[in-house]
Amino acid sequence: MSEKATIILDGKSYELPVFVGSEGEKAIDIAKLRDMSGYITLDFGYKNTGATTSAITFLDGEEGILRYRGYPIEQLAAKSSFIEVSYLLLNGELPNQRQLDEFQGNIRYHSLVHEDMKRFFEFFPNNAHPMGILSAMVNSLSTFYPKSQDPHRPSKDVERTIFRLIAKMPTLAAISYKNNLGHPYMYPDNKLGYVENFLHMMFGMPTEDYVVDKDVASALNTLLILHADHEQNCSASTVRMVGSSQANLYSAVSAGIAALWGPLHGGANQEVIEMLEAIRNDGSDLEKWVNKAKDKNDPFRLFGFGHRVYKNFDPRAQIIKKACDDVLKKMGVNDPVLDIARQLEEIALKDDYFIERKLYPNVDFYSGIIYRAIGIPTRMFTVMFALGRLPGWIAQWKEMVENKEPIGRPRQIYTGAVNRSYTAIKDRK
Ligand code: SDX
Repeated sequence: MSEKATIILDGKSYELPVFVGSEGEKAIDIAKLRDMSGYITLDFGYKNTGATTSAITFLDGEEGILRYRGYPIEQLAAKSSFIEVSYLLLNGELPNQRQLDEFQGNIRYHSLVHEDMKRFFEFFPNNAHPMGILSAMVNSLSTFYPKSQDPHRPSKDVERTIFRLIAKMPTLAAISYKNNLGHPYMYPDNKLGYVENFLHMMFGMPTEDYVVDKDVASALNTLLILHADHEQNCSASTVRMVGSSQANLYSAVSAGIAALWGPLHGGANQEVIEMLEAIRNDGSDLEKWVNKAKDKNDPFRLFGFGHRVYKNFDPRAQIIKKACDDVLKKMGVNDPVLDIARQLEEIALKDDYFIERKLYPNVDFYSGIIYRAIGIPTRMFTVMFALGRLPGWIAQWKEMVENKEPIGRPRQIYTGAVNRSYTAIKDRK
């Protein structure tokens, strides 16, 4: 017998269906609540509201569980590759060798960007933030591929758009980095793997051979896997919302990049390093900064701490924290901000303010330390997050389109002026 919820409003009781997911999560289906009772629900920031059902990623914030298509993140981070995880997120199953080779081949085929796009980069200001460039350039891809405007085109066109995005975003990211430096752009080298090709385009120079460091490639592969999807986070929900109007996938992803840029979301990884450096430059008085973070009158927050869903620990942060030691040792890097990060975590985790609010290090707290160790500049950290999250965004968009979900249009409760008549300006005070 399917479960029901009974709600009593103005003395009348209403029965609403209960939806139960494959992991036993339960939701009250309120689709008919307004028709039945005239009531809607209100939930700022959708803290307790499900916008959809999804078979892509499962996370349990209390238990610190994160699985992509049922596979634990710990296993994927240790054994898989970012390209294989991208295939898994998009198709629901791990690929066999033929499928993986074909997927990789399709992505390599589209790794170049149109030569005309390079002129756009010349007109961005020298100090343009790479996230602003990336969002603009990804959206401009839609102007080069007009067929992509209709998400319901034959699946081959949609598939090609997906390959183009996954193939071209690293190329665009690397060009934005080279453009910032005033260095010549590097063309993709399709003999290389996805991560290795990105490193080649970022750090290679036309004047010399660039040898990809396998430890750097391995660390980046792990970080991209850990960022690949995270169910209905702010940027993924943005991609679904924009895609729900049947805007093209390039524009939906461009909107996702914009949402990710915010310091409360993906922009936090840049904020963390800048915060750690500010603490170090201020004499490493950790107590002072922890007290600032606790002070209601101080806008300062401990970036990299807290999470909407994880209330015990972020499993990704645990993996990245462990990887920090390993990568820095292999790279022969001794980064003083890592010690500050560790001490900050230790102090915060013993402090009632953080314990009561269940604030723990999130995915952004340690990731920047690894990015820094492998040579990624701080302003590119959120671009790295976007590169990792891209397959997740696309998988979320694809699921929304395939499930023929309706255009997103939340309701509101009006709190403004009630009905009144227009007055001539001469009669106003
Ligand atoms: C990501 O959603 C996802 O899945 C996101 C993400 C993904 O993979 O897509 O995991 C990636 O965005 C990680 C989060 C990165 N952001 C930061 O590190 C920025 C710092 N963290 C916070 O801004 C905050 O913790 C959020 C935004 C992450 C979560 O905010 P919520 O769930 O809206 O919680 P809240 O702001 O209402 O905070 C609850 C309380 C408040 O105190 P009270 O009003 O109850 O007294 O905790 C306090 C907050 O002031 N608080 C913090 C804090 N985070 C929350 N106080 C100090 N420092 C912090 N970092």
